[in-house]
Formats: sequence, C-alpha cells, structure tokens
Amino acid sequence: MKMFVKSVLCATVLTAAAAPVMAEDFAFKDQIEARQGYFQMVKFNMGVLGAMAKGKRDYDADLAQAIANNLKNAGAMNNSLMWPKGSDMDAEGLSDKTKAKAAIWQDGSEIGEKHQAFASATETMAANAGQGLDALREAIGPLGKSCKSCHTDYRAK
Ligand code: HEC
Repeated sequence: MKMFVKSVLCATVLTAAAAPVMAEDFAFKDQIEARQGYFQMVKFNMGVLGAMAKGKRDYDADLAQAIANNLKNAGAMNNSLMWPKGSDMDAEGLSDKTKAKAAIWQDGSEIGEKHQAFASATETMAANAGQGLDALREAIGPLGKSCKSCHTDYRAK
C-alpha cells in the first residue's frame, strides 16, 4: 500500500514537472478541449446507431436503447460553460485550435435553436431505438440532419 501511494505520488510529481514543457497553452484550452471531446463522444455513440441502421452491425435492441439514451443525456447537458465568447477560430492564436465560427456568438445566432433541434432528435431516437430496426432507421435521418445543420452554419470545414 505504502509503495503504491509512493509511486502514484511520484508519477504525479513527474507529470506536473513535465507539464509546462509538454502542454501547449492557449486561451480557453479547457473549454475547447471539453467541447471537442463532447462531440467525439457524441460521434462515437452516433456511429454505433449508424452502423446498425446501415446493417453493418447487428441490430440489438438493448444496446441501441442504451446508446440512444447516452445521446439523449448528451443532448440534455448544459454545456454553456464550454462556449465562452472569444473562443472562436478567428480569435488570436486559435485558428488551428478550434473550428467554432465567430457567428455562434454574434447577433442573430441560432446556435440555441440548432442545439434544441439536436436535443429533440435525440429524444425521438431514444423513443425509437429499442423498438426495432425500422424505428431506429426512421429516427437516424433527422438526428444526422441536426448535426449537419449546425455544422454548416457554425463549424468550419
Ligand atoms: C448546435 C451545434 C452543433 C450540433 C447540434 C452538433 N455539432 Fe458537432 N460541432 C459543432 C461545433 C461548433 C464544432 C466545433 C467545435 C470546436 O472545434 O471548438 C463541432 C465539432 C464536432 C466534431 C469534431 C470534434 C473535434 O474533435 O474537434 C465532431 C466529430 C462533431 N462535431 C460531431 C457531431 C455529431 C455527430 C453531431 C450530431 C449527432 C453534432 N456534432 C452536432 C456544433 C454542433
């Protein structure tokens, strides 16, 4: 036990010492990484449902339901802290760190509506996914469209 604690502490100290050299700091790093990680997680879950819809993976009602629930929970998250004003790709030093367009924060932005459309589509998916392959297929189009609709306006290619 003592050994374990010691080696963990050691590793922590080493990591801490190495961090300034290895990590590249930029404005809103934590927030940008959090939202990109969030979307990677969403994409991963979406991919499982997509594979079932395309017949590339056997339909499994329990798994489909669990995955759809993940997406619904993701859609219901309050992620506002991940989107601070000034963390767009046009901000100084962020052009290669984020693909979030400045339009997200400008007057007339429909980012809230786009997110809401995504959240609603995840709810429909959660209601459908466990009810058979046809029901899953019916829900996946609108869900995919909700991603694309937001990316078209607010994410750079
Ligand atoms: C309300 C707007 C919105 C919705 C809805 C949305 N996205 Fe995104 N997505 C973005 C924005 C903006 C970025 C760029 C984030 C950044 O680079 O800071 C992004 C980035 C991503 C990324 C890249 C993450 C990375 O590692 O840089 C993936 C993958 C992704 N989205 C997948 C999806 C999928 C799949 C869906 C739907 C199931 C979806 N998104 C729905 C706005 C949205």
